[in-house]
This record gives sequence, structure tokens and C-alpha cells, in this order.
Amino acid sequence: MEFPLRRMRRLRMHPVVRSLVTETRLTPGELIAPLFVVPGKGVKDEIPSLPGQYRYSPDTLAEHAGSLYDRGVKAVLLFGIPESKDDSGLSACDPNGIVQRAVTVIKEKHSQILVCTDLCFCEYTTHGHCGIIKDGQIDNDATLPLLAEQALSHAKAGSDLIAPSGMIDGAVKTIRHALDQNGFTHLPIMSYAAKYASAFYGPFRDAVQSAPQFGDRRTHQMNPANSREAVAEVFLDVEEGADIVMVKPALAYLDVIHKVKSRFQMPTAAYNVSGEYAMVKAAAQKGLLDEQKVMLEMLISIKRAGADIVITYFADEFARLYAQGLPEI
Ligand code: PBG
Repeated sequence: MEFPLRRMRRLRMHPVVRSLVTETRLTPGELIAPLFVVPGKGVKDEIPSLPGQYRYSPDTLAEHAGSLYDRGVKAVLLFGIPESKDDSGLSACDPNGIVQRAVTVIKEKHSQILVCTDLCFCEYTTHGHCGIIKDGQIDNDATLPLLAEQALSHAKAGSDLIAPSGMIDGAVKTIRHALDQNGFTHLPIMSYAAKYASAFYGPFRDAVQSAPQFGDRRTHQMNPANSREAVAEVFLDVEEGADIVMVKPALAYLDVIHKVKSRFQMPTAAYNVSGEYAMVKAAAQKGLLDEQKVMLEMLISIKRAGADIVITYFADEFARLYAQGLPEI
């Protein structure tokens, strides 16, 4: 038998060599931290379904966002939990609504932070659906002008980036048009372009009480079995003017992230969603796995698949670890 000339193990012997030949690295500057905001003052309530994540009022939120920034996580993505919900989710468009107030407070205190705002109606409607309901279904085209209104209210409040998450057809074009007509041509859109109808959103829906009261999200979010369709979704959003495209969830869809990045070469984000985070927390709590290492392995796999930006509830933990010097996985 011929002796192997190339021994793969040679480069795995010395830890410094292993580091030198590391192909993928991740820094806190590539992360976006999703944050939940509620009305009030001085609030910091732990979210039962997401251990280590909190519902903040605008004042404590600004403080937390400031410390994230100091640790290198310079972008946050806001989700609002309003005082009251109604049929059409009106408070989502209120210039004085919870997200709008939170944006203003963060920007006042820390103008350097990139404040991204999630744009959807499911947190604001009593039925928990992402738009106007007609005959038991989301009325796509009736929802569009409301999305434009919501986007403008975010822009006026000082949002730095608008992230429509509802998978409503034509949303990106409608929002782009509304922003451009109102002097916000400079404001980027990160579209949740390929968002799957996923059970991994469970803990998030508990956190914002947005579980649909009837039906599910299969008529607008994607079938987990499809990836060609993801290409079509991303194509349309790029055509409509999306600046950054997102795949969501991340871990069960690494192939989709890879496909989207290689096809479009667009700035690509991946959302490491609530269920992916909660699973690790639960397993770690039971002593079943090493939480830090699993976190690092997950995050690096998302980057390796092709994501430029990772939206993750682990952002703060990752940044703290990064500051100490990341351990080898
Ligand atoms: C919709 C929205 C959802 C998430 C982000 N934006 C929930 C959904 O589509 O039901 C999920 C995020 C997560 O699970 O972490 N506004």
C-alpha cells in the first residue's frame, strides 16, 4: 500500500497550527442581538421560554444596548410587545408606539448603535396573524399599505434599518417606495426573504404572545421541504429592493443559507431563532451538553454556510466570551 503523502492530521497537532488554518472566524461585530421591549420604566423581566433573555422597558433597553455595543455587538433588532392589541394591529403604526419610543430612547442615549426594527403585525393583533384578516385568511394586498405606514413610523422614530418579517408578497417594494417618497432613500431594508413556517419559533411566540389564535402561518411562510422556492423568494425581494436578505431559521436551513449566498452574492443574514437557542439552554440545564462549545459550534456553522450576519440570542454571551479570548471549540 502506498504511504499517504498528505496526512491531514499534521495540521491538527499543534494548537497554533490549528488556529492558523482555521477557515471561518466569527466576531461580535457580525452579530445582531434581538431584543424585546415592553411599556413601562425600570423593567427587566426574564422571559420564561428564553432563559437569559429579558423584556426591557425603553430605559433599561437603552442601557443594555449600550453595554452590548461596548462589548462589540453594535446592532440590535427590536421587537415590541404593545400595551394592547386589536384586530388590525393599529398600535404597530403609532408614532408613539412601543417600538417607536424605544428607538427614540436608544438613539438619544447611544446614537452610535445600529437600531434595526422588525416590521410585522403579529405582535400587535389580537388574532396573532401578520396582517389584516379577511374571511379567515391574511388579506395580502390590504396589509401592504399598513406595512408602509408602520415602516414610515419606524423611520421617523429613527430606525436605522427596516426588517419586514411577515412574508407578505410585495412588502419590500411597497416599503421601499414609501420610504423613498418620504425622504428615507438612505434607509436599508433587510428582508426576511426565505422565512419558513417553523416550529422553532415557539419560544418567541410565548415571549411576545403572538401565537396565532386560529390556523397557522403556512399560507405565507415557506414549506420546510423547499429550497428552490427560497431562491425564488430571495430573487423577488432583491428585485423589489432588499439590501440584505435573510434566511430563517438558521440551523435546520444551512443548505438554504449556502444556496442563497452562492446564487445571489448579496449581503446575507441568518436568524438563529428562539427554538434553536432554547434547545441549547434546556439541554445545558440538564447537564446534557457543554453550552459554550455548542453555542460556538452552532454560530460558526451558520457563518461557514455563508451568512455574513448572524442574528442570535447568544450575541451577548458570545461577545463576553470573545472578550476573554474564544476557547477552541
Ligand atoms: C414575526 C417574527 C417571528 C420571529 C421573528 N419575527 C415569529 C413568527 O413568524 O411567528 C421569530 C423569531 C424567533 O423565533 O426567534 N414578527
